[in-house]
Amino acid sequence: MLAESIRREAETLDGAQIAAEIKREVAAEVVQLAETYGFHPCLAVVRVGDDAASEIYVSNKVKTSNELGLISEHHVLPASTSQTELLAIINDLNNRDNVDGILVQLPLPEHLNSIQILEAIDPEKDVDGFHPLNVGRLAQGLDALAPCTPAGIIELLERYKIETRGKHAVVVGRSNIVGRPMAQMLLKKDATVTITHIFTENLAYYTSQADILVVAVGKIGLITGEHLKTGATVIDVGMNRIADAAEARSLFADSELEKRLAIIAKNGSTLIGDVNQREAMPKAGRITPVPGGVGLLTVAMLMKNTIKAAKIRRFRQAVTK
Ligand code: GUN
Repeated sequence: MLAESIRREAETLDGAQIAAEIKREVAAEVVQLAETYGFHPCLAVVRVGDDAASEIYVSNKVKTSNELGLISEHHVLPASTSQTELLAIINDLNNRDNVDGILVQLPLPEHLNSIQILEAIDPEKDVDGFHPLNVGRLAQGLDALAPCTPAGIIELLERYKIETRGKHAVVVGRSNIVGRPMAQMLLKKDATVTITHIFTENLAYYTSQADILVVAVGKIGLITGEHLKTGATVIDVGMNRIADAAEARSLFADSELEKRLAIIAKNGSTLIGDVNQREAMPKAGRITPVPGGVGLLTVAMLMKNTIKAAKIRRFRQAVTK
């Protein structure tokens, strides 16, 4: 009883450390590909318009590829770009033999048809894993170029040796970027998977049964103590900002609070996920922080996907598994 009452906080899952590990592996593989086969994998990133968040995400992707020895192309197009113009650029990237990966940053401006754009990308160069062919392969449990954020979460679980087989994994959120592919990947790893979302009635009924809980909704404080099973692994994919110090006091654990209040005082706001860390820390077994959790893994996995795409296409490596 006493041991339980002085129970420690959840273990923090260090996304930064795992991302650094993955990036080191990618950099080593880039050197090996260059030495053995004489090429450097090339990632082409396309951004349309001037969405501020996209600008930061894309420059991060380009910067990381350069750091790891990949070749990167950064195509920045005006918000007025037409569907035909964007399709022509993708067609050109599809046809260029030195381009291994193509990423079109989302969201696109309203007047563009994202579905048609994503379907125009050569599935072998689809490093985001958003093309229906890759989505279908993933749904069939086959190897595929898979979306980077959920693929990064799988790497995190594997590298921390967190068992998925037979465990109940609950995913909150059903986006094409995180929730749906996450559920497929957990299923492939033999978890029993429940998908919930913003319209799920009595969300806590489901989440409180989760051995592994992945939350990707974009709603501050969505997951509180009552949503958690004691000892659960909690993966917080949310990326929100709060500016209110009183609100911060109800959301951050004591161990984190002072630092966050200082950040709010200095910058006007601080990053926060979808999980109430103050309530989750004493109850969860392991938890990802925000920032420093899954966000960093996404970029690392994009680099890994670019190498994978290069190998599949250049070596015509059979992808049958
Ligand atoms: N916008 C937010 N996340 C992503 C992502 O993983 N890939 C792309 N292309 N756009 C995004």
